[in-house]
Amino acid sequence: SPVTVPAIINLDVPGPVISRHLYGHFAEHLGRCVYDGFYVGEDSDLPNEGGIRLDVVEALRALNIPNLRWPGGCFADEYHWMDGIGPKESRPAMVNTHWGNVEENNHFGTHEFMALCELLGAEPYISGNVGSGTVREMSDWVEYLTREGDSPMVRLRKANGREEPWRVRFWGLGNEAWGCGGNMKAEQYAAEARRFGTYCRDHGDNKLYRIAAGANSADYAWTETLMKQLGELGCAYRPASFMQALSFHYYTIPGTWQDKGSATEFGVDDHYRTMAQAARVDELITGHSNVMDCYDPGKNVGLVLDEWGTWWNVEPGTNPGFLYQQNSLRDALVASLHFDVFHRHADRLVMANIAQTVNVLQAMILTDPDSGALVLTPTYHVFEMNKGHQDAASLRVDLPDGLPARQVDGTELRTVSLSASRKNGQVLISLSNLDAGEAADVELDLRGGAVAIARARILTAGDLRTHNTPDAPEAVAPRPHEQVTATPSGLRVHLPAHSFVTVEASLT
Ligand code: AHR
Repeated sequence: SPVTVPAIINLDVPGPVISRHLYGHFAEHLGRCVYDGFYVGEDSDLPNEGGIRLDVVEALRALNIPNLRWPGGCFADEYHWMDGIGPKESRPAMVNTHWGNVEENNHFGTHEFMALCELLGAEPYISGNVGSGTVREMSDWVEYLTREGDSPMVRLRKANGREEPWRVRFWGLGNEAWGCGGNMKAEQYAAEARRFGTYCRDHGDNKLYRIAAGANSADYAWTETLMKQLGELGCAYRPASFMQALSFHYYTIPGTWQDKGSATEFGVDDHYRTMAQAARVDELITGHSNVMDCYDPGKNVGLVLDEWGTWWNVEPGTNPGFLYQQNSLRDALVASLHFDVFHRHADRLVMANIAQTVNVLQAMILTDPDSGALVLTPTYHVFEMNKGHQDAASLRVDLPDGLPARQVDGTELRTVSLSASRKNGQVLISLSNLDAGEAADVELDLRGGAVAIARARILTAGDLRTHNTPDAPEAVAPRPHEQVTATPSGLRVHLPAHSFVTVEASLT
């Protein structure tokens, strides 16, 4: 019989608000993410607006995407934005040295990206080029995008067909400066970030939220250096005017860099190793937050995890530089586990961006290169089922010790994970059972209020390796979940092995 897991939620004690930006996305000029994924060009047979695929846009609009990061990634630090404006036929081409050594024709540039954000209803998050760009180039880009009235960059923008400025809040000062973004030392990058951040001006009432390129996974020393160098130390820490947040990146890779493992051919041990790697994101956010707390206990500087997700071996027969991978039920559980952790850290973590939205790494959508057919991945469904947490107040979930767990390479992996939030009289509870073979019954003790169930849905399949294809697009898709029952103190939710469940309820 299923193991029983008691959990307490105080409905009347709202915690920090879960920023909608924790559900952010990432689109890099990498493989078939931008070209073929988002952008097919105006001459395509596929329905498009200005070359942007409308079926992709429609599918993504159902996720309420809050922000989209672009143009990289590693690509950002070799991207020169002026090559991507003006008539397409006269835009210079370049070689995308990071991703497949293919030619980039710059047909998708600033105007196309901003049009995409408008179609998606998402805020742009632009990563500027610190690695191989100049301060002037970045400063001009901000002016081109956001300045009103008359100025050299405004005249250029108008000549390219855009009269009004756009609003751009999120601005990245480079990417992975410790690696592909310039192989810098932390002190060296901090000095660059000070210079670049200074000349990225707030034009009119467009206030930039500048995000410094942060650490690689557990590099807490990098975070500490940025906190010291980008703020004013004193009795009370003052973040510098040219830096509002810092980032870090963490990918779930249970194998090695040389052999990361297959997205669909894996065993139960691989599954648990994957979950244990995914669960590490809690330790990492805690670690970076602790360092930040030492300097900035008021939590004025935001922490941004602007790249996360699974990274598998590419699908056999595809370009190794294109990072195209399948996406199974296991990936969905990686995503649901991450969101539980994000919700718990809503006081410091202000933004997160899955890598990447279409056709690259842990994507929402995979498109067929020949037929163009579009498939929604299991990960897509987690984003959709969880979207009610966006901008909701987090609710703490208390779980007792002695919960179901698996030992994975000497560490304990808790196999049941939960998070909850409330907004406008609605409660959303997300529950994941990471166990490959055992079901669980979660006994929710809901205190400080009563609820009426509005809808319960489940995402699962007979096998963890199940994934969606054009022939079986709904092999992993949400279905109504009947096994949620009211109890005198709250709710009992049955979680089959390897499943993700959301319960939407109204406060009565
Ligand atoms: O998302 C793929 C790559 O991973 C990004 O370009 C880079 O920032 C990271 O190493």
